[in-house]
Amino acid sequence: MAEVPVFDNLKAVYGEAGESHAKTRYSRLEAAFKKRFGTAPDLYARSPGRVNLIGEHIDYEGYGVLPMAIKQDTIVACRRHGSELVVANINPDKYKEYKFSTDPEQNVDAENHSWANYFLAAYKGVFEHLQSKGGQVPEPVGLELIVDGTVPEGSGLSSSAALVCSSSLAILAALGTPCSQHEVATFTAVCEKYVGTESGGMDQAISIMGAQDIAKLVEFNPVRAEDVVLPKGATFVIANSLTVSAKAETAAARYNMRVVECRLAAMLLALKLGESKESAHKIKTLREVETLLQKHVSGPKGDVSNANAAVVEEHLHEDPYNTEELEKKLGAPLKKLFAGNSSQLRVLEIAESAGGYKLRQRALHVYAEAQRVPQFRDVCNGSASADEKLAQLAQLMDDSQTSCRELYECSCAELDTLIKLSKESGALAGRLTGAGWGGCMVALVPDAQAQHVIEHLKKEYFAGFVEKGKLGKDEAFMSAVVFASRPSSGGAILKLKHL
Ligand code: GLA
Repeated sequence: MAEVPVFDNLKAVYGEAGESHAKTRYSRLEAAFKKRFGTAPDLYARSPGRVNLIGEHIDYEGYGVLPMAIKQDTIVACRRHGSELVVANINPDKYKEYKFSTDPEQNVDAENHSWANYFLAAYKGVFEHLQSKGGQVPEPVGLELIVDGTVPEGSGLSSSAALVCSSSLAILAALGTPCSQHEVATFTAVCEKYVGTESGGMDQAISIMGAQDIAKLVEFNPVRAEDVVLPKGATFVIANSLTVSAKAETAAARYNMRVVECRLAAMLLALKLGESKESAHKIKTLREVETLLQKHVSGPKGDVSNANAAVVEEHLHEDPYNTEELEKKLGAPLKKLFAGNSSQLRVLEIAESAGGYKLRQRALHVYAEAQRVPQFRDVCNGSASADEKLAQLAQLMDDSQTSCRELYECSCAELDTLIKLSKESGALAGRLTGAGWGGCMVALVPDAQAQHVIEHLKKEYFAGFVEKGKLGKDEAFMSAVVFASRPSSGGAILKLKHL
């Protein structure tokens, strides 16, 4: 398994084109570190945000997804020192400094959301992982850290994974316990649970395993990534709706609600497929239902994919389910079925007032979206002309967006507007990326049209925010909310000889 790379120069991570900008940023971080802690850091760790190209809300159902890392990242400057964890930020006015004990068993106060909770989640995750590996676990040590992140928060570009992954890499490096990319991608996906969100594992996997100029088809259990080379001639334009999609704060009504809906759908389908109540209650994902289905359907594998949708249509009704009906059908109180998972129990408390559980719609989305991911890869790897490939990818992205909007209900008016504006100015397709309900959209745009699409979005969408004083006038603000992106490299440790 590949180790997390350790570099002694910035070019290895940011390429020739990004080196000079990175140098300015690292020098500023080093200066801030010296000012706060009196000396330079021992090391830096960095991990990027991501944009998901296709495969939305299916990673936690066990299906593969197809993201790419972006250049915006989180850098953690770190030094072993003292007897506490001192976690500071390059932007102290917005993100205040925290001090924690070095006890890996300490609780994360998920009820009181703070940026440093993600650091603490990483800290606990590192020790939990080292303990699970067996062998000698290092003694906790004091650490001084300053974090510098450029992935916009709540934008659906995985600022939280960039923070958790870069923190984990910094802590591991400071402890002197190198780990493989696979190990870090696996434990960071789990440790985000400490901040109260369920996460499927996509964001952490691509943040760690991303590569320059290459998108990845990421699969789970165990986590692994396959290279996908995108066709030439097009660019991905990313635009931030500026509707903040704060995953941790809205989890019960949105993200975690969908996780619960999918699990309920999976349990009901398992019952319908003849499983006993006892084994149906143990079913966690719609993918497990697909495995059950294979027992019932003979013929080539393709038949199973279509059979998924047929089974959903046959057995799950369109109207939302309520608790009473579900408990009757499943033969157990929901609280018992979700016992031990506090974020999912919180969903149960509010689900009825949020309109009930739409099981059929959610399951139909998951099964159709799961098929689009290998189709996207196959188009990229196929022998069609670049134009033909782009047309096929555009169709898959559009279908994904329709499904996210109509069946999964995770789009929003602002994202729909951005997509419409992109398409009317030359994009081939556009879709939300990440959890949705705000955050960013990603549009597939022929290279020749990219600048035009960006200008159109600035004029028709973002200028209004500038007028209302919600976005700074400076061009730097604009280029942070709408930009073209290429696949960038993944997590790394930097032991720089000089800056
Ligand atoms: C968030 C989660 C991911 C994934 C996406 C939706 O980004 O962290 O694991 O579920 O939403 O595709």
